[in-house]
Amino acid sequence: MTVAAIVPAAGRGERLGPGVPKAMRPLGGTPMLVHAVRGMLSARLVDLVVVAAPPGDEAEVLSVLASHDIGKEVRVVAGGATRQDSVRRALESLPADVDIVLVHDAARPLTPSEIADAVVQKVRSGSDAVVPGLAVADTIKRVDADGVVTETLRRSELVAVQTPQGFTRELLAKAHDAALIDGFDASDDAGLAERVGAAVTVVAGSEEAFKVTRPADLLFAEALLRERRAR
Ligand code: CTP
Ligand code: MG
Repeated sequence: MTVAAIVPAAGRGERLGPGVPKAMRPLGGTPMLVHAVRGMLSARLVDLVVVAAPPGDEAEVLSVLASHDIGKEVRVVAGGATRQDSVRRALESLPADVDIVLVHDAARPLTPSEIADAVVQKVRSGSDAVVPGLAVADTIKRVDADGVVTETLRRSELVAVQTPQGFTRELLAKAHDAALIDGFDASDDAGLAERVGAAVTVVAGSEEAFKVTRPADLLFAEALLRERRAR
């Protein structure tokens, strides 16, 4: 079986503040995207990585990857206006022999590669859609447009879902096609798979697979990387 990892990296990183696109921001002196791609390439069960770059930046992204010695195993395609669009474009570009697809945010640069292997294993053993998840620390409430709480969700029933998420190629393509036709937008790929009736299985995630979203996340990422390099 051939496994491809799609890395959507076409976002601007608005919540992180002004600067270069988030995936190109340095972490320990190296762009976040490079960390994320290396993580996927070090997974034993990943054969190929396809990065969705900000449209127009494909050549630059490819040269950044090449300058970190990872040009050859990686392809770069133009991303789109939304994360979902970026993933779809990368998915459409995959070689015909790929049958399992991981989708992994460039914004989760320190994700251990063991998570990718565990997700692929689970897909191989018959689960069509697999996500890493962690118990939620905060209590999550639904609020209306005026900021008034309408519901408190039972925390013990919730998981915070991370990436890489893994799918059979057939299911992921079907889920994206359906979403495109219906104009449905979800913040993760499993959300699209659920919508076409797939069962999504949760495997253990990792605190180190957190998403760099706001400035404080970058501080945490730098500290974690320092600690890893010292180990
Ligand atoms: N992404 C993408 N294409 C887009 C938007 C997002 O490939 N049009 C990618 C981001 O590069 C990131 C991942 O999707 O790796 C998760 O998105 P998020 O954390 O929201 O990143 P940004 O969209 O860059 O950040 P923000 O929402 O703060 O602008
Ligand atoms: Mg975003």
